[in-house]
Amino acid sequence: MNAKEQLKIYTEEVEAVIEKYLPAEEGHQKTVLEAMDYSVRAGGKRLRPLLMRETYRLFGGNGSEVEPFMAAIEMIHTSSLIHDDLPCMDNDTLRRGVPTTWVKYGYDMAVLAGDGLMIYAFETAAKALSMTENKERAARCMGLLAEKTGIYGMIGGQTVDVELTNKPIPKDKLDFIYRLKTGALLEASMMIGAILAGAGEEDIKAIERTASLVGLAFQIQDDILDVTSSPEMLGKPVLSDEKNNKTTYVTLEGLEKAQKDVEEISAKAVDELHSVGRTNEFLEELIKMLVTRKK
Ligand code: IPE
Ligand code: IPE
Ligand code: MG
Ligand code: MG
Ligand code: MG
Repeated sequence: MNAKEQLKIYTEEVEAVIEKYLPAEEGHQKTVLEAMDYSVRAGGKRLRPLLMRETYRLFGGNGSEVEPFMAAIEMIHTSSLIHDDLPCMDNDTLRRGVPTTWVKYGYDMAVLAGDGLMIYAFETAAKALSMTENKERAARCMGLLAEKTGIYGMIGGQTVDVELTNKPIPKDKLDFIYRLKTGALLEASMMIGAILAGAGEEDIKAIERTASLVGLAFQIQDDILDVTSSPEMLGKPVLSDEKNNKTTYVTLEGLEKAQKDVEEISAKAVDELHSVGRTNEFLEELIKMLVTRKK
């Protein structure tokens, strides 16, 4: 089986895990639950839970306690997209091929659905505590998940991103934004896989560096697709960055250099991954596939 066929099967497995942990749409607060499930079920590549599970396997993990964390990271990522699309942020109307949460459910429900998913993610991750003997590892992962999501992670990055809209951004600040707004959740994904599987401290650090590079390349590719793709292909609007007058890697470095850098940074990520001295061929292929991704 080639990596593409493998990816299809693994993505379906991840979908099933996510589905298992979604809240039931019932009770007086049904509307917010519907908005949460709508946004998660709309799909997407499920990259973060995929990376988490493959990193878990890289270090020999074979339990089920990784599953609540897989669902949790996808909930957090989805919550970040719901808020990112709001009129007060990027003001976009299409996400994962369907109307954005605020278009479908209104601003109020979109804010609450984003909040709801972000915190339900921790309620979900906490279920891992009763699924493993290694409660300390699971507890550490919950702390890490919070750190990489919050002000020192994704939310911190989004803060600088929106604050600098309409303003020129020097390269070092752009790197900071990308490492946080996109890199941090990818770091959490891979590090949680490693920690739950019992990786050593040096290896956990190597995995953090790997994921940070994957995140940087991933966001540069996201900027490239914003100017080279179509809404049909992406499932989200193109030229969103230009509309918002944003400095991106592409506006700063040009398309050609950006493309070259995605390749280079991804190659560095693979090198860094090799430094742990273990192999998971699919994980490596997955990182390589991101270089040429079209959506
Ligand atoms: C989009 O992430 C937001 C970024 C961090 C660039 P993805 O490209 O992973 O979005 P989905 O999950 O596939 O929809
Ligand atoms: C990443 O940046 C956003 C998040 C961290 C949620 P973008 O604003 O470029 O993401 P897209 O292009 O809307 O998916
Ligand atoms: Mg944005
Ligand atoms: Mg956006
Ligand atoms: Mg973008």
